[in-house]
Amino acid sequence: MTQKTWDDVDHYIVETLAPPDAALGLAVEASRAAGLPDIAVSPAQGKLLHLLARLMKARRILEIGTLGGYSAIWLGRALPPGGKLVTLEYSPKHAEVARANLARAGLAQVAKVKVGAALDVLPSLEGPFDFFFIDANKDGYPDYFCACLGLARPGSVMVFDNVVRDGAVIDAASKDAMVQGVRRLNEAIAAEPRVSATAIQTVGVKGYDGFCIAVVA
Ligand code: SAH
Ligand code: DHB
Ligand code: MG
Repeated sequence: MTQKTWDDVDHYIVETLAPPDAALGLAVEASRAAGLPDIAVSPAQGKLLHLLARLMKARRILEIGTLGGYSAIWLGRALPPGGKLVTLEYSPKHAEVARANLARAGLAQVAKVKVGAALDVLPSLEGPFDFFFIDANKDGYPDYFCACLGLARPGSVMVFDNVVRDGAVIDAASKDAMVQGVRRLNEAIAAEPRVSATAIQTVGVKGYDGFCIAVVA
């Protein structure tokens, strides 16, 4: 099984079940044109986030790590009328690109992009949020987990991106701060009796990675 097979199957899944749409295509193009890194979730992953948010009927969503707003568009579209998405982004440039992309998707009134280091902004937010997507700096994941728990309600769902990293997550001696951040996240979740979680490995156009999915009791 190779990256080529994963790409081909991912393209087949997306063509069949999540066909491209103008605003998402423009978001990808504008993000690339602005020089943003190519690290947004894939279309199939974006649709998964969208479906998870819809499945639990999320009305208030918090994202940490906006980039160009690609995942934010998928999440914003999961909201019912009157729903709100708050998305946190450190880089003013990324935030500006994201605001334009969200506006083109008709989500300017639904999505609020807040600029700053997430740990500085999180204490100013008022909970509860129903659904969290955490995708900023991975060494911050343990702190983001604690902060999000404080903004959650019983039944809230948290999804963390990039928790497998080509399998690097199993290397306890890794010197990679991202790997250690994910490992400490998993330990923090395991030690928290109010949270039940698993991680799911994914393959596709973004390579081999995974999501950690957690629910708050
Ligand atoms: N969720 C996006 C991808 C996010 S990439 C998508 O799938 O479309 C990670 C983003 O987190 C980058 O834009 C980066 O600038 C931002 N980031 C990094 N450190 C951060 C911090 N401390 N606080 C907030 N955002 C941060
Ligand atoms: C990186 C960050 C991400 O959120 C991602 O999905 C892929 C890569 C990175 O920083 O390399
Ligand atoms: Mg990611």
